Amino acid sequence: MTLRILPDNLINQIAAGEVVERPSSVVKELIENALDAQADKIEVTLIDGGKSLIVVEDNGKGMTKDELELCVERHATSKLDDDNLFHITQFGFRGEALPSIGSVARLLIKSRHKGSDDGWQIELAGGKKTGVMPAGISSGTRIEVRDLFYLTPARLKFLKTDAAEFGYCLDMIERLAMANPNVSFYVTHNDKQKLALNACQGEFFDARLRRLGEIMGREFQENALLINVQREYAQISGYIGLPTLNKANSLSEYLFVNGRPVRDKLLLGAIKGAYQDVLASSRYPYVALFIDIDPMYVDVNVHPQKAEVRFVDGAFVRSLLVTWKKLHIRKIFLRLLLKRNTISF
Ligand SMILES: Nc1ncnc2c1ncn2[C@@H]1O[C@H](COP(=O)(O)OP(=O)(O)OP(=O)(O)O)[C@@H](O)[C@H]1O
Ligand SMILES: [Mg+2]
Repeated sequence: MTLRILPDNLINQIAAGEVVERPSSVVKELIENALDAQADKIEVTLIDGGKSLIVVEDNGKGMTKDELELCVERHATSKLDDDNLFHITQFGFRGEALPSIGSVARLLIKSRHKGSDDGWQIELAGGKKTGVMPAGISSGTRIEVRDLFYLTPARLKFLKTDAAEFGYCLDMIERLAMANPNVSFYVTHNDKQKLALNACQGEFFDARLRRLGEIMGREFQENALLINVQREYAQISGYIGLPTLNKANSLSEYLFVNGRPVRDKLLLGAIKGAYQDVLASSRYPYVALFIDIDPMYVDVNVHPQKAEVRFVDGAFVRSLLVTWKKLHIRKIFLRLLLKRNTISF
């Protein structure tokens, strides 16, 4: 066989293989784009667990006609101003999500830039794009993804039932909503409303707890204690539940690094350790912890779906967690049991 550079569409499909695993991956990419565009209202519409249709509509800054033309091209991004992969301040940076989605589904993007009177649309099917055309849309962006994996039946076969795929989508939306309490999220599935979270106003930690309560349950909200530890270039904040509130799996342990939902063994291990004296080893607590760390010290470019991060100084993060664990956990539980109020330290 001749050595050659593959055609663009094939390159995009290969990239899509990593980025787009199932409908929830598309939902994640589109919501992250909406958040990067400073939207404070995001509406998600799904049909058949997202297999037939995914629509994400936002009221963010929108795109100009030229930006719309470019946004479906591979490696086109507006998010890496200084070309520095260690100064990532937004969710996106690879410029890969939209062309990848457009290579494995039918993609329609409508957008109107803030301050502009005109909206525009572009379509992508089988990786081929149409010209940009005028579109009726109020300010913001609406992205429709139809017939995911219609060109790759093998991928389609790996998807689960509509209900299971919807479950993955909802879990992803809830995680992103937890990290963004000041944003409204509305979700419908097969024409039924499944989630309606109005933006939480007021002091940040209060707003965050209200949003966590809407997702993790009122009982968590009433039995949670504020954590807020700051050291050098990192902060761990969030809420931890009373040990009496526990379950048989770790699904209510939510972790975020710089606003990104992650599942990190180091952090999950630290939570287990923190609760080991107060919880049977077969039981798991309710926890939502947010690590905010100077982007210089965290590498998010280690996983195609950005579900993992690598800390430049893992020992430092571990020590931060140990501080939290050793010095405060007993005090916290004691106080919580006695007074049921929150403390900050
Ligand atoms: N909802 C949106 N509102 C405004 N601009 C958007 C929106 N979605 C995408 N864009 C624009 O399109 C570009 C390409 O989006 P895409 O998701 O493909 O890449 P990215 O977000 O830059 O990086 P990544 O591949 O890591 O997500 C973005 O950089 C942004 O400029
Ligand atoms: Mg993106």
